[in-house]
This record gives sequence, structure tokens and C-alpha cells, in this order.
Amino acid sequence: MRAVVRIACLAFVASTALWAQEKAAPLPPMGWNSWNHFAGHVTDADVRSAADMLVSTGMRDAGYVYVNVDDTWQGTRDAQGVIHPNDRFPDMKALGDYIHSKGLKFGIYSSPGPKTCGGYAGSIDHEAQDAKTYAEWGVDFLKYDLCSYQDLMIQAQKEHPEDTGIKNRMMIAAYKKMGDALKATGRPIVYSLCQYGIDDPWKWGPGVGASMWRTTDDIDDSYGRMIAIGFSQAGLSKYAGPGHWNDPDMLEVGNGKMTADEYRTHMSLWVLLAAPLLAGNDLSKMSDMDKSILMNKDAIAIDQDPLAKQGDRLYESGDLDVWTKPLSGGRVAVGLFNRSWSTRDISVDLAQIGFKNGGNVRDVWKGKDLGHRSGVFTDTILTHGVTLLIVSK
Ligand code: GLA
Repeated sequence: MRAVVRIACLAFVASTALWAQEKAAPLPPMGWNSWNHFAGHVTDADVRSAADMLVSTGMRDAGYVYVNVDDTWQGTRDAQGVIHPNDRFPDMKALGDYIHSKGLKFGIYSSPGPKTCGGYAGSIDHEAQDAKTYAEWGVDFLKYDLCSYQDLMIQAQKEHPEDTGIKNRMMIAAYKKMGDALKATGRPIVYSLCQYGIDDPWKWGPGVGASMWRTTDDIDDSYGRMIAIGFSQAGLSKYAGPGHWNDPDMLEVGNGKMTADEYRTHMSLWVLLAAPLLAGNDLSKMSDMDKSILMNKDAIAIDQDPLAKQGDRLYESGDLDVWTKPLSGGRVAVGLFNRSWSTRDISVDLAQIGFKNGGNVRDVWKGKDLGHRSGVFTDTILTHGVTLLIVSK
């Protein structure tokens, strides 16, 4: 009898934990993060202006609501161990209030180690205290970046060479410690793991209270790096769902080093992956092209579809790649990707993706309904380009 009660209690605890994550991130979080553009120079003024721009450009209304301050905001701890921001961030509570006043949400960054990747103060031995401070500042999102904690893991492995699981156990314990601390604040805070995909976080992330986890090392503003990350996500779809998302890193759209076709490939792949969409560009310098990619309604609707399923690869043939994502209402999103250096024809058999009698096809980037199609759908696609479709019955 006691065992039955215990199992029932455990099931209840597990379901409430998951419920908390779903409450924080029922769909892939969308917003903006300071790192890809401002990196270590970000200031309070930059973040306030990003919040203003999210509103004035229409990004907020398109769904981008998190304003996330990445690394390098931290100052020192006071005598009681409370963390304070550095000179570039005079008042974090006031910054949070400002962000909230715009109908946006406030995100912050730390590390389970003594130092962040940028060499600023991490949260080791201050997890509960920091979580409490963040909640007091009105934080809605925490990115927790492994950084220097990895050195402690390597050191422990050296001291215990026979214990092959020590690094993994330490890492999971460190992430769980902050996950528990965030939960204890009672504030729904999206918990975003950043440990570069080490040891399959998609398998243990939900157990430490995470709403999302990075699946790879860092992105940069190059087509080569972006597709290396994006197309390596095949096979991970079963690990995503409400409250727990695979994160192939932030967006580079608008940072200037890729062509329009390459950025459309980036956005198409990320929405098919139901990836968190965190823009990383200078919002004050968005071109019409950047806006048309980041704010395309159909593309965003694919990412945010209420069925909440991640897409996956249908087939790959040399440099051609076809991905699908199931959508609500029996619809399917399809991405036809041309990674080659020449213009190529790419096809998808509509019967193979559930449309034996054909379906209505919408071309997302052209913004056009192509009418009822059946059998094999083929499109001619420019180098590094993509055709993104929504097929419905
Ligand atoms: C790591 C992360 C990046 C960024 C930097 C900040 O490299 O993966 O996304 O947060 O640290 O130092």
C-alpha cells in the first residue's frame, strides 16, 4: 500500500514539475538576445532600445517577447553574497520594469561555474540566492551556460579517473540545483540550458526543470556554421514538445553576413525544428528584407503551431534536403533545401507526406497559394535557397 502511495506521489511531483515548464514555455519561446550582435559590450541603454525597437518594428506583435540580456551584465557580490550588476547596468529591477511596461518579458544569463564564459561572476554556491534575486528583478527567463563549470568537471575526472560517469553526474546535478532554485521562487521562469549539447540534454533536460536546451556549440553569422547546426538536428524531433524544446542556438538573421536566400534557409529550418526564435540582430538597423524574414506570419505560425511538434528530415540526397513538420488540422509544413552551389530542382511526393488525394499548397516565402496539387511537387530552387510550403487538405 505504502509503495502505491509513494508511486502516486512521485507521479504527482513529476507532473507538477512538467506543468511548471509547460506554463513557462508551452510553445517555443520567441524574443531577442543581446549576444550575437552586442556581445560583451551590451549596456542598459542597448537593451532598453532593443525593447523599444521590438515594439516599433512590429516584432513584439509578431511574437518576439523575451528581451534577454546575455553574458557580461554581472558586477560583484556584496558582503551577504548578493549579486549586483556592473556599471553598464545601473538598476536591473528598473530595467525589468521598463521591459515589462512594453508588454515584453525579461531574460538574464548566468553560469553554474565560478565564472561565465566572458569571465564574469557565475552562480556557483549562490544558486538559491541568485534565483531569488532574479525573481525580485522580475526575470522571466534564465540562460544557464556551462562555461567554467566544465573545468571543475575535468578536474574531478582527473582526481577520479576510475569514475567514468563523474562529469555527467556533476553537470546534471549543477543544472538541477538551479532548476530547483528557480522553481522554489514560485515565479514561472523559462530555464534555458546552454551546455552545447554535451551528453544529450534532450534526455535529461526535462528532469532538471529545463524548458529548453542548446543542442550544439555556438552558431555564427555564416552559412556553413548555420547549416552544420541546422541539418544536424535530424532525429531529435521526439524530444520536443510543450514545455521542453531543442534549441539549435539563436538567430543570425539581419547580422549581415549571409544572403537573403541563406537567411531564409536559416529561418525555414528553425521554424521546421520548432526552435526557440531568439533574434540576435541590431533591431535599429533592420532592412526590409530582414523584417520580411523575421516577421513572416506563415513562417512564425509553423514554429508556433499549437500541435507543438518538432519537424524532422524526410530525405536527403547529396546537397538536397527535404524536411517536414506536422501541423494542427492535419496540415504539414515542408522545406525543400538546396545546399548546392547551383540552381536545382527538388521534389516531394505529396502522397508520401499524407496527401494521397493531393492538397492545397501555400508557398510561404512567395506569400502565395499555389492551388490544389497532387502527386510529386517539384520546385526550382536557387543556390543555398529554400522553398517552404504549408500543405493542407
Ligand atoms: C557561450 C554561449 C553563447 C554566449 C556566450 C557568452 O559561448 O554558448 O551563446 O552566451 O557564451 O559568453
